[in-house]
Amino acid sequence: MLNSTLEVSHLCTSFFTDRGEVKAVDDVSLRVDKGQVVGIVGESGCGKSMVARSVMGLVKKPGKIVGGSIVLNGQELTSLDDKELCEVRGRDVSMVFQEPMTSLNPTMRVGRQVQEVVAIHEQVSKEQARQRTLEILSAVGIPEVEARYDAYPHELSGGLRQRVMIAMAMIMRPSLLIADEPTTALDATVEAQIIALLKRLAHTGTSVLIISHNLGVIAQLADYVYVMYAGRIVEKADVCELFDNPLHPYTHGLLGAVSSLRSQSKVLQTIPGVVPNLANLPAGCSFAPRCDRCMAACDSVRPELVTVGAGHELCCHLTKGVDVL
Ligand SMILES: Nc1ncnc2c1ncn2[C@@H]1O[C@H](COP(=O)(O)OP(=O)(O)OP(=O)(O)O)[C@@H](O)[C@H]1O
Ligand SMILES: [Mg+2]
Repeated sequence: MLNSTLEVSHLCTSFFTDRGEVKAVDDVSLRVDKGQVVGIVGESGCGKSMVARSVMGLVKKPGKIVGGSIVLNGQELTSLDDKELCEVRGRDVSMVFQEPMTSLNPTMRVGRQVQEVVAIHEQVSKEQARQRTLEILSAVGIPEVEARYDAYPHELSGGLRQRVMIAMAMIMRPSLLIADEPTTALDATVEAQIIALLKRLAHTGTSVLIISHNLGVIAQLADYVYVMYAGRIVEKADVCELFDNPLHPYTHGLLGAVSSLRSQSKVLQTIPGVVPNLANLPAGCSFAPRCDRCMAACDSVRPELVTVGAGHELCCHLTKGVDVL
């Protein structure tokens, strides 16, 4: 039996702009097994959402998938046409988007919006669809569902709107849920509730791909973590291994930001410098200009992802200093 829900291999997604080709996703491979929660972490502009949009078949012009494969439950998605992709979306894979307010229709009652997803995929009576909507709204922890069914998005709190989005994504029981920064706009208490909800979903067998710029969020949810920088995967490991034995200087930087949050330090420790222009990447390692452990080779030779431990891979010239298996 197939164990992987999603298998992305050597995915390349680019934007063709006046400034040239912007390699938003550059040779990314990742895998999500059944019931597993996999995280992608990285700063703004690293290409996290473009990986998700590529899987959903939602890359808009001037963007395009230019290489690689995306296999969901054994089915290759990159060769499907728009109609076939529409059938896959919602039924087999769904996504909770970064901006819940812009993803919900402000002029339509939320219950109707969730119900419409059923109508797209199945021939059921209105009453059956309504019943299923009430069940899923209640399953994602929305109180007084009958009343909330008739509410408009602006009448709900940010946390409830995000629950509606999750209900909409889950109503067809897809095998994969992609959650792109699902808690960014929420305060800490509501964030914890949404994380708990996503965890519960994973325990029911749904595979989850969670995207965040915050390693703290990823740590609470994910079994396995991919660290992304400038369109590429720079480190990947089991969540415990990544926290116990982070190897990439960029991962160290991201962890620094988490620990300063934990210690309630007033100064948020951030990585100096900015993500490079993806249309004009340095010849060597993309992180080299910001790296405090940069060596001569880093400016000229692009590192490859190599295995450095069980399930632990690293894309950094520092592998020369560790025991490469
Ligand atoms: N419409 C577009 N035209 C040109 N380039 C784009 C476009 N959309 C995205 N990109 C490029 O793709 C890169 C990755 O974007 P993406 O939205 O995936 O980043 P992200 O990691 O999700 O960031 P954030 O944390 O801010 O959501 C951007 O840095 C940008 O260079
Ligand atoms: Mg994003």
